Amino acid sequence: MRQLHKQCAAPQQHDARRAARTVVRVASAEPVTSAGAAAANPQTDFKFACPICLTTEFVVQGSAPYQACRCGRCGRSFEAKGQYLDLTLTSGVAQQVYEQKMWQGTELFRQPLVSFVYERGWRQNFAGAGFPGAEKEFEMAMQYLQPAQGGVLIDASCGTGLFTRLFARSKKFAGVVALDFSESMLQQAQQFFAQDAALKAGTPIVAVRGDIGRLPFATGSVDAIHAGAAIHCWPNPQAAMAEISRVLKPGGVFVASTFLTPLAPLGELIGDSTVRPLSQPVSTVIETFNPFGRSNQTFRYWEEDELKDLVAAVGLTDYTRTRSRMFIMFAATKPAAERQPEQW
Ligand SMILES: C[S@@+](CC[C@H](N)C(=O)[O-])C[C@H]1O[C@@H](n2cnc3c(N)ncnc32)[C@H](O)[C@@H]1O
Repeated sequence: MRQLHKQCAAPQQHDARRAARTVVRVASAEPVTSAGAAAANPQTDFKFACPICLTTEFVVQGSAPYQACRCGRCGRSFEAKGQYLDLTLTSGVAQQVYEQKMWQGTELFRQPLVSFVYERGWRQNFAGAGFPGAEKEFEMAMQYLQPAQGGVLIDASCGTGLFTRLFARSKKFAGVVALDFSESMLQQAQQFFAQDAALKAGTPIVAVRGDIGRLPFATGSVDAIHAGAAIHCWPNPQAAMAEISRVLKPGGVFVASTFLTPLAPLGELIGDSTVRPLSQPVSTVIETFNPFGRSNQTFRYWEEDELKDLVAAVGLTDYTRTRSRMFIMFAATKPAAERQPEQW
């Protein structure tokens, strides 16, 4: 087994507000000067935070495999599992008695078979609901992400890394974090990264296991977040949106795509509020004939106003969107300046 070396820097001298922050440098287990992808990639500081205190900062440079991160404040180590860093709350804990079961929209994607078939047919099926396809969705997301180009992008709920690869290949970002809760999705993503020759000398990617409801980043530290086809799978969208708002830098961008309700195409023509009374009965009929069981326990389809409300409720502004049939891509911004007390 590879010998891992821990390099812990002394707490950095920052301004008074940040004096309590400890910075832990987490070197790549493979030295960045060695041959291969790690050597070709420019060095980028990827900054993560301990998922418990959200204060100790882990600085990661270079490619996988990584070494474990230790937070002295919390007395906890977070594992580096082969190809990804595990920054979930249960990382490094032997859960012999109690194992948290998540919402079905999270658990479903932890199945290795689902991760295997995801880019081999599953994702392509979204076209039936109006998703324009990965290349087009990527182009649309890049438009929304323009103000954040040059920074580090978090591809949240990256799945098999379909968009992570496109973002990295574009060379428009200093680095891309591929974050997902599913171990098997991250393993599949790393296989695809390794097979993609265009990524070898390109933008560095770090794969991290993390929960969207407990993002392992310091407050106000993230340039941009993309979440493709994911918010309908998240256990607690409100908490997730609050986390996204917490970690974005002032001026940071959030862009996401998801499924609207089955009546959204009609709603687009005659108004969502007009079709609203029909939404529940139609969903019930669809549920009854759904061969995969009750999808409302796995996914949650949206009305556009609900997404707008979610965004506004966590203080993000400049909501904008593109929508077609059941597909919507929406974006919002973290206000550039802190609000004055009289604006609260
Ligand atoms: C439908 S896939 C989307 C994958 C990819 N972004 C795309 O556009 O095709 C939804 C992803 O959300 C992830 N997910 C579900 N619950 C999550 C959670 N609590 N935290 C982080 N990711 C989660 C799943 O593991 C899955 O990979």
